[in-house]
Amino acid sequence: MPALELHELRKIYATGVEALKGVTLSVQPGDFFALLGPNGAGKSTLIGIVSSLVNASSGEVRVFGVDLHAQRAAAMRMIGLVPQEMNFNLFEKPFDILVNYAGFYGIPRAEAIVCAEQELKRAQLWDKAQTMSRNLSGGMKRRLMIARAMMTRPRLLILDEPTAGVDIEIRRGMWRTLREVNAAGTTVILTTHYLEEAESLCRNLAIIDGGRIIEQGPMKALLAKLDVEGFVLDIDGPLPDRLPEIEGVMLVAEDGHTLDLEMPRAMDLNRVFATLDAAGIRVRSMRTKSNRLEELFVRLTGNREAAA
Ligand SMILES: Nc1ncnc2c1ncn2[C@@H]1O[C@H](COP(=O)(O)OP(=O)(O)OP(=O)(O)O)[C@@H](O)[C@H]1O
Ligand SMILES: [Mg+2]
Repeated sequence: MPALELHELRKIYATGVEALKGVTLSVQPGDFFALLGPNGAGKSTLIGIVSSLVNASSGEVRVFGVDLHAQRAAAMRMIGLVPQEMNFNLFEKPFDILVNYAGFYGIPRAEAIVCAEQELKRAQLWDKAQTMSRNLSGGMKRRLMIARAMMTRPRLLILDEPTAGVDIEIRRGMWRTLREVNAAGTTVILTTHYLEEAESLCRNLAIIDGGRIIEQGPMKALLAKLDVEGFVLDIDGPLPDRLPEIEGVMLVAEDGHTLDLEMPRAMDLNRVFATLDAAGIRVRSMRTKSNRLEELFVRLTGNREAAA
């Protein structure tokens, strides 16, 4: 039984914006799943619906087989949410935030106190347990939100850009925490802009753009699809009107002195250079294009900024 199952999920906001245009998706129990997409793709809307913060216009959501619409409370008990925006009281202390949150979910206070200590320690926030939350750093605040979500021992942990704006060291620490959580059996779904993050953490992913899933599957399979390599060549002198044709190679003039080259990974670069040379094209320098997942992302979403 999937941990999360979405069927033909649609959302039209009151403003008329169609944020989700029929999303069907299935996440297996124990998975570490990334939902990737450019700004405005519909990621937060999707997560908002699953966590009951947003009402779907139509479609179905099942959490471990429980229909969200028919049995909201039962479905919600299995979910832990780390929202994109900070949403705890900055004038409360981390320890109280966790204990009160558990109380809200009906967990007895004595149990919550034990659990809060565990989670704060795991989040490396135990020394800040009695500090006013306002005084925590950005990374600490994010870790606090993860610790809070774990208080109910969710079977499905959903994080909306958990590492946005967090420096690389803290981010790595959070990855470690999330890997531990996942290894202990919790299904994890996260959205992220950091493709490196998805590549390093997730086994499966879906790419969403304009309210539609445009690609989904195992990370490895998606990357394998991309068995091409991209280069940017700086050219000395003007380019000829007609570029030479090389079988299996895509050659595009970006401007008067830059060529975009895409070729199968196994192909010999010398052959390409020999052909360019014969056509009077002198390559002054070359660099490889951005990482593979980024390439895939850019290609699928047509979002050039993502590669920048
Ligand atoms: N409360 C709302 N009312 C009206 N439109 C909204 C609302 N929330 C989101 N939208 C619109 O729905 C679309 C999807 O937004 P959403 O926040 O789901 O995107 P996202 O993928 O999470 O983007 P980001 O990466 O920037 O967080 C956008 O066009 C957005 O402007
Ligand atoms: Mg969002």
